[in-house]
Amino acid sequence: MSEIDWGKGKYEPTAADLLPAARQLVDAARIKPGEHVVDVGAGTGNVALLAADLGARVTAVEPAARLREVIEETAAGRDLVVVDGTAESIPLTDGSADVILSNFAVIFAADPAAAIAELSRVAAPSSRILLTSWLPGVMGKLVGIVVGAVRELSDGRNPAAGAIDWHDPKALSELFGPHGYEVSATTLELGIVTASAEEYWETRIANHPLGVATFPLLQQAGRLDEIRARFLEALTSDHADPSGEIHIPAQYLLATATR
Ligand SMILES: C[S@@+](CC[C@H](N)C(=O)[O-])C[C@H]1O[C@@H](n2cnc3c(N)ncnc32)[C@H](O)[C@@H]1O
Repeated sequence: MSEIDWGKGKYEPTAADLLPAARQLVDAARIKPGEHVVDVGAGTGNVALLAADLGARVTAVEPAARLREVIEETAAGRDLVVVDGTAESIPLTDGSADVILSNFAVIFAADPAAAIAELSRVAAPSSRILLTSWLPGVMGKLVGIVVGAVRELSDGRNPAAGAIDWHDPKALSELFGPHGYEVSATTLELGIVTASAEEYWETRIANHPLGVATFPLLQQAGRLDEIRARFLEALTSDHADPSGEIHIPAQYLLATATR
């Protein structure tokens, strides 16, 4: 599991930002009614709920207890089971999933090879696994302002980064290849909009689980105000329209592994 406790703070505004990518992921999976779909790192259930609404039997795997509760509350009446687990440890039997989906989540696995081995174990022989990950660029630059400072103040590790380049199709092929999968990938764009730069900072950074995990360190070092000012400046200069509304074009990779 990542160093961030995703149950802390308020992840929900980011989940709303990621919903269009969840729709793309579910569309790309071409889910048939009755298929068993596993959503790994389900968060508040973006993907799991969409898949259930298509008639799939869904298992949402999520390590954060508070987020599991959120899914359970929303999922009432749907064919959707919520379980505690991570990409590296999924409480399902071998070959039981027709489709495995992960929207910006398996990318947080501390051990990517173990995670893909576990996904492959749970996946049926003719299954498909689809995942999304950020491409370097806008999101990396913005979030990098915060994590860059955190790295300077800690042991150099990036709390928001995956252990491999999940956006690199070659890296994905190397991970999936040994399990008999072929990987194809496409680049997509997610438009993120907020009313102002300050709102983005408050709702997507300060109260995001990443902010909750890292702000005490920045505060202790007396650097939080400086980081906030740099972040707002970068956001405004690159992404504000004349009214101050923020429009972030965030590029990401949608990868499909089939066997
Ligand atoms: C950026 S959120 C994405 C959540 C959701 N898929 C969505 O579309 O909003 C990352 C999610 O990955 C989960 N996560 C963190 N480490 C994980 C791991 N090792 N395996 C699976 N999920 C993990 C977090 O708890 C969090 O719910």
